[in-house]
Amino acid sequence: MNEILQNILTRRSIRAYQKEQILDTELEAIIKAAQYAPSGGNSQSWHFSVVQNEEKLKELNAHVREAFKDLIIDNTTYRSKVSGKKAAESNRYNFYYHAPTLIIVSNDREYSNAMADSSVALQNIFLAAHSLHMGSCWINQLTWFGDQPKIREVLTTFGIPENYKICGAAALGYVSGNQPKATPRKEGTVTIIK
Ligand SMILES: Cc1cc2nc3c(=O)[nH]c(=O)nc-3n(C[C@H](O)[C@H](O)[C@H](O)COP(=O)(O)O)c2cc1C
Repeated sequence: MNEILQNILTRRSIRAYQKEQILDTELEAIIKAAQYAPSGGNSQSWHFSVVQNEEKLKELNAHVREAFKDLIIDNTTYRSKVSGKKAAESNRYNFYYHAPTLIIVSNDREYSNAMADSSVALQNIFLAAHSLHMGSCWINQLTWFGDQPKIREVLTTFGIPENYKICGAAALGYVSGNQPKATPRKEGTVTIIK
C-alpha cells in the first residue's frame, strides 16, 4: 500500500493533546494543504482562523458551555448535541479537548457549496496533520452555536465576516497517549456497477 493510502487509513480523531504548541512551519504546511483542496468553481471562498491564544479559546469554551445550557432537546435532537449538553455540565468540559491550536473554517452563508468546500479543506487538514505526526479532530460546536451573539462577538475578533457561517473546525496538536484504533467500517455501503 502506498504512503498516501496508509495515511488515510491510519488517521484517527484525536481527543487528547499535549500542551506543547505545534511549530509554525507545521502550521504553514497544514494551512497550505487546506488551501489546495478542491472548491466549487474554484471559488476558494473559505476563511481559516487559526486560534492559538489559550485565553481566547477558554473564553469560547465558557460561551459554548452557556450555549449548551440554553439548548432545548427533544427526542429528535442530534445525539451528539444531547451528549454534548450532558458533558458540558461538567466544569472540566472542553469542547476542543485542550488542543493548543483550533482552526475554524468559515464560508459564505449564501454560497451553496460552503459546507462541501470547507469539508474537503478540513479533510486535507486532518490528513496533512497526521502525515506530520500530529493529531486532529473535527469540532462541531461552533457550527451549532456560531451565531449565538456572545460567540459571534469572539468569532468576529478572529476575522470571520458577518456573512460567513462556521462550517467546521479542527483541533490540532501533538497526540497525548496512544493513537486510537479505527472502529470497524459498516458493511453494505458500496454498490459497484460494471
Ligand atoms: C461532520 C463531523 C462532525 C464531527 N464532530 C465532532 C465533534 O464535535 N467532536 C468530536 O469529538 N468528534 C467529532 N467528529 C469526529 C467523529 O466522531 C469521528 O470522525 C468518527 O467517530 C470516526 O472516528 P475516526 O475519525 O477516528 O475515524 C465529527 C466528524 C464529522 C465528519
